[in-house]
Amino acid sequence: VAATGLSTAAALARRPPVTGAELRSAAPLPPPFQVPLPIPPVLRPAGPGRYEITQREASAEILPGLRTPLWTYEGTFPGPTIESRRGHPVTVTHRNELPVPTVVHLHGGRTPADSDGYPTDLVLPRSTMHTGHAMHDPRAVVTELTRDYTFPLDQRPALLWYHDHRMDYTAPAIWRGLAGLHIVRDDAEESLGLPAGSRELPLMIADRAFAADGSLIYPALPDRPGVTEEYLAGVLGDVILVNGAPWPVHEVDAARYRLRVLNASNARHYELEAVTDNGRRLDLVQVGADQGLLAAPVTHSALPVAPAERYDVIVDFAGVPVGGRVLIRNRLGVGRTRDVMAFRVVRRATDDSRIPGVLSADLPAWQRSDAARVREFAFRAGRTHGRHGWLIGGLPFDPARSDVVTELGDVEVWRLVADVHHPVHLHLAGFRVLSRGGRPPLPHDAGLKDTVSLRPGESVEIITRFDGYRGRYLFHCHNAEHEDMGMMANLEII
Ligand code: C2O
Ligand code: CU
Repeated sequence: VAATGLSTAAALARRPPVTGAELRSAAPLPPPFQVPLPIPPVLRPAGPGRYEITQREASAEILPGLRTPLWTYEGTFPGPTIESRRGHPVTVTHRNELPVPTVVHLHGGRTPADSDGYPTDLVLPRSTMHTGHAMHDPRAVVTELTRDYTFPLDQRPALLWYHDHRMDYTAPAIWRGLAGLHIVRDDAEESLGLPAGSRELPLMIADRAFAADGSLIYPALPDRPGVTEEYLAGVLGDVILVNGAPWPVHEVDAARYRLRVLNASNARHYELEAVTDNGRRLDLVQVGADQGLLAAPVTHSALPVAPAERYDVIVDFAGVPVGGRVLIRNRLGVGRTRDVMAFRVVRRATDDSRIPGVLSADLPAWQRSDAARVREFAFRAGRTHGRHGWLIGGLPFDPARSDVVTELGDVEVWRLVADVHHPVHLHLAGFRVLSRGGRPPLPHDAGLKDTVSLRPGESVEIITRFDGYRGRYLFHCHNAEHEDMGMMANLEII
């Protein structure tokens, strides 16, 4: 892969991350911090290591008194959470009862290529049977209505998530509800004594916009006339959902909580802070990144979270009086999108949780000198087939092209540069951030990651080792609209 010039990106002034126009909801919106925080249901296995998920249309009362039609995993948004143990493989059978083909990807999973959800490995919808799209062999039709995805889960414990990944249509599919959590655990992590049980909360944060009847608004798709400005930049809604509820509130003990934050928004960046009613800022003590525990905790007063990133943070409510509230706010938001959710402290309680000074000792210690090669990729806007697109190294995604071929076991350094904000995600291989803007990484770059936020005009170096499986994988921008407009490339491990 040829290196590309960096001058344009480097010359761009740093701009605020939210560049797209925000969609405005027409539906009446609830005041913030009234709706209780839902916790996504945990999926019951259909047998040892076996799960079944039906993708189907459903509706939910997201805004009080209105029904929102959704595409769902098992009828809920977020989909059901899968709870797994490290090294215990699971097979998830997905059945597609939606009106469109789908693809399932386990984001952050160390997954063999045939279960990784390549964007053209479709699970066909039931309706295909009737339209007869070159489906002359009835057995072929039947087998593709469901698909078994096998996940070895031979990986560090972490908060993963599964979501749709169909070529050109990932963004609208996630927007309509196709996203769920998958948590991997192990004994070592559980023995640390971090807050657990009801004091461990998954928080899937995602913005949406609602029409007057409660249905979701989404701008025109790229293959339709009238591509909108909102679509090009990445779609932003004016309602912040946490676990599918608008600006929810959760009652807590005056104790430490472990918040497992996922930004599942298509395009919105957050900078989260925890602030009490009287304006006191609480520390966000980060214990984990996308790919599991840090070596040691890192304390933040505010935490930037790009699309698809996960942050595992401990917040201590012990100093908050009973009856007091702690607001989780987004410093990058404006008006209503400044609010995310609230915690209401309702009782004093004992707390035997702890935050050990050493969290894990198994983080890979790759050095620049280990790298077999250095590659460079520019993530930039460009024109493709006469249309606006988002490109990597000047090219839009093409499933027929090999962009990167690497050898199993090789360590590589990748230098990534961006014109505007691009959260870059690598399938299969967790990586570490080596440098940002020519300087050492920032505090929130710590640990093993699978998604890194490139800021406008900035270059970020990551280091990784391609091990585990051979086959065809991907890397792409996780601004889901950018991804659909071409900002994705093939990574082949041989
Ligand atoms: Cu979360 Cu390739 O995606
Ligand atoms: Cu992007």
